[in-house]
Amino acid sequence: MNSLDEAKFLDQNDPLSRYRNRFFHPENEIYFDGNSLGKMPIAAQYQLHKTIDEQWGKGLIGSWNNHWIDLPSRIAEKYSQLLGAKKDEIIIGESTSVRLYQSIHALLESNLYPKQLVTDTLNFPSDLYILDGLTRIFKIPKILKLDYSQEIEANVKKLKSSIKESPGIICLSLVSYKSSYLYPMKELNEWANNHRSIIVWDLSHAVGAVPIDFKASATLIATGCTYKYMNGGPGAPAFLFIEKKLQTQIHNPIQGWFGHQNPFNFSDKYIAANDINKFASGTPSVLSMQAMEAGIDIILEAGIKKIREKSILQSENLIDLVKKYLVPNGFHLESPRNSLYRGSHITLSHKSSWQICQTLISGNGNEPRIIPDFRPPNFIRFGITPLYTKHDEIYQLVKRLEAIVKTKSFLSFTLEKPKVT
Ligand SMILES: Cc1ncc(COP(=O)(O)O)c(C=O)c1O
Repeated sequence: MNSLDEAKFLDQNDPLSRYRNRFFHPENEIYFDGNSLGKMPIAAQYQLHKTIDEQWGKGLIGSWNNHWIDLPSRIAEKYSQLLGAKKDEIIIGESTSVRLYQSIHALLESNLYPKQLVTDTLNFPSDLYILDGLTRIFKIPKILKLDYSQEIEANVKKLKSSIKESPGIICLSLVSYKSSYLYPMKELNEWANNHRSIIVWDLSHAVGAVPIDFKASATLIATGCTYKYMNGGPGAPAFLFIEKKLQTQIHNPIQGWFGHQNPFNFSDKYIAANDINKFASGTPSVLSMQAMEAGIDIILEAGIKKIREKSILQSENLIDLVKKYLVPNGFHLESPRNSLYRGSHITLSHKSSWQICQTLISGNGNEPRIIPDFRPPNFIRFGITPLYTKHDEIYQLVKRLEAIVKTKSFLSFTLEKPKVT
């Protein structure tokens, strides 16, 4: 893609272009942060209004039976279609952090695997904190945290030999939040399964961005956020996948009434549901679930294969433009070069990343604001979300970045950071 005209031609011939209208777009803004918080589907807005006015406002308690009680399992079924799971292998609810805690606690308690907790330096901080907290509860001396002496790619050879030497419970993010590195899921699952180990996958940056098939990839347990590429809304509930046989071998450490076989019998004795629902704890968050359904509906309709094809095309085009216009101006590519090992965001670094980010966000005269996000120490991430990212937006982004560094306009922006970056 060498010119704005070429970018526009690609947009005109884009098989996914019709999905852009299914989202709300703030005026004069180009959004590259769908890897952090996806855009709002118009249908979610409609659904939320309906839920508030009719179901909560007028229907009140009657709405549980009329509209809400089957909502989590309906959404779970849709996620199972996307992820190559059986419909009773997925549950929706809680946050990814809580689901990681439940999963790893349950595995440690089960004694199915050696009590060795493993992760690597590419993993998301919340995952590390959860593991750290569990070492205290289970009196595990320390986490084995693999360091590959760079943060762009995992060293799969090193990871595999570590699993062989120190089998246990390994927690990895399928797509790493900083560099966008994509692990070879099937190869690692099979390796772990053959070496008395299990991988607990965090799919937060992968779901809705790359095709995932739990059965084909021999995955046993996984969780992930739905507010990024799944466009489920801020704080949308996570999903948890547990393979059918494993479900029978582990217990939910948070035994609440919604995980009971018959919650509305109000029995004093806890009897766990005999399916994935035993991993429920409290009342489902209805408003968030009503909001998140539109996101999965659009992804199923568009098809994850087509989404991935466009994501690779756009990422490759972005990387080519970065090499041509930005690398000579002090930027570095911090994502894997090979699309086989890359998710759907592209990370760049520059010594003045924070100020450059602020310059993009503030816009330029009549030109649109451009929204990426910043991760310390000096990474700028650009999320490619094929359902609404246009080719011409990618071209505009690179030319704007080039102008910002050439004119040094970023120097007028402060180095101070707000609470959310
Ligand atoms: C890879 C990854 N894991 C976990 C989380 C945390 O998810 P939650 O806030 O749902 O606990 C995030 C949040 O951005 C993330 O990117």
